[in-house]
Amino acid sequence: MKEFINSIRIFLIYRTYKFMVIFERIANKGFALDIFSKKFQKDPYQTYSKMRSINPIYHSKPTFLRWVTKMHLVQQILRDERFSVDDRKYPIAKLRRKELKRDGRDIMLDQFENPSILKLDPPDHSRIRKLVSYGFSNRYIKSLENHIIETIDQCLDHTHNLDSFDLMEVLAKPLPAIVIAKMMGLPDKDLNQFQMWSENLLQEVGGIGSSVKKRKLARDAYEDLIRYFEKIILSRKDNPGEDFIGELIKAEEEGDKLNVKEMYGTCLLLLIAGHETTTRLIGNGLYSLLNHPDQYEMIKKDYLLIPNAIEEMLRFEPPVHATVRFAYADMEYEGNSYKKGTPFAISIAGANRDPEANENPNEFNILRNKINHVSFGYGPHMCIGASLARIESRLVFEKIFERFPKLRLGDELPKWQKNFIFRGFENLIIKTR
Ligand code: HEM
Repeated sequence: MKEFINSIRIFLIYRTYKFMVIFERIANKGFALDIFSKKFQKDPYQTYSKMRSINPIYHSKPTFLRWVTKMHLVQQILRDERFSVDDRKYPIAKLRRKELKRDGRDIMLDQFENPSILKLDPPDHSRIRKLVSYGFSNRYIKSLENHIIETIDQCLDHTHNLDSFDLMEVLAKPLPAIVIAKMMGLPDKDLNQFQMWSENLLQEVGGIGSSVKKRKLARDAYEDLIRYFEKIILSRKDNPGEDFIGELIKAEEEGDKLNVKEMYGTCLLLLIAGHETTTRLIGNGLYSLLNHPDQYEMIKKDYLLIPNAIEEMLRFEPPVHATVRFAYADMEYEGNSYKKGTPFAISIAGANRDPEANENPNEFNILRNKINHVSFGYGPHMCIGASLARIESRLVFEKIFERFPKLRLGDELPKWQKNFIFRGFENLIIKTR
């Protein structure tokens, strides 16, 4: 019954949204941002460009968001303390609390009230981020290289006599979860279960019109993972070890340490922030490259081009398209007044394609000289796992180019997922001969 009522609720919200889009289109002489439309899913960049030309801080009433699509404004907002990430402080929190209470999601509600660094403003953000960064030392991340290479090989081993296969299924989805499990020192016997939870967790984040069933899967996985991490952390208290969880337990800065809740919140964040994103970088990146065969041929002859190509892949088809900030208090910004709690969609993808930030922004060019992107964010919340993502994707590309010299895209065009936060494919069929 609860699920039926939820389905009706989602349906009504969707219908109201669609009506609002119609009104916006009339008011804007033919233009409206419709994040649910097929056109937007296929090519959101035209829409970002149109919004930028109408107003770089575009007010979209159907999404209740101000969309920021110019690079210099995006960078300014992401480092400006008047824009906050902590949604507990704003009216929107009421809805979230009500929804989680109604669904009996006590663990998620507790996480909402005690968020990880991604949703914390200073001073808590700065304090916890400093402690978390102990687990991300360059030395430690570098030490994972051999494990990453072995895992890529294992994932690809059973493809050697296949004419074609789905890169997402075989490699791009499992690899980041396995690497994060290794990084955290999780027992091998838990790997299958951990991968399943990680997959299910992604069913909801930013998903457009996720079904009630998918949402339940994601929320069950979220709560199971919290219980799991809590158990692992408590069992390691007296013998922390040398991996990421060990470093979190040992981390200390001027007498300050992380408590258990902060530790398991951080573990869950790593999985949410580091899994889907890296999966998308591999899928979107390879797709962009194979769509430009001349550039693929250049890379095959010179693997030293791979790191610059990865930056261009990140710029051109970023795995994270947008992040959100709230006005910390009533404020004036760029000539407009905003009320406390006004939500802003910071369009990473829009900024990357701003012609003032990159020349010919709609052209994919792995030889581009100065690549200006915010695909790992900017300012105090800038991605803490960027070097891991860069190493992982470099090793993936080196391995697949070496193993499959005749690599090309399959005949069927992949479909972009219905998701306006993460951009990527469900499947990406590649031919190997
Ligand atoms: C291609 C891969 C990745 C992309 C595109 C990406 C993108 C981002 C972005 C855009 C942010 C900033 C969000 C904001 O300001 O609201 C961020 C933050 C973060 N990322 Fe990543 N990320 C990637 C991989 C990873 C990996 C592999 C990990 C860890 C295993 C990770 C962990 C984090 C964490 C913990 C934060 C929060 C930092 C903070 O709030 O201080 N990310 N990431």
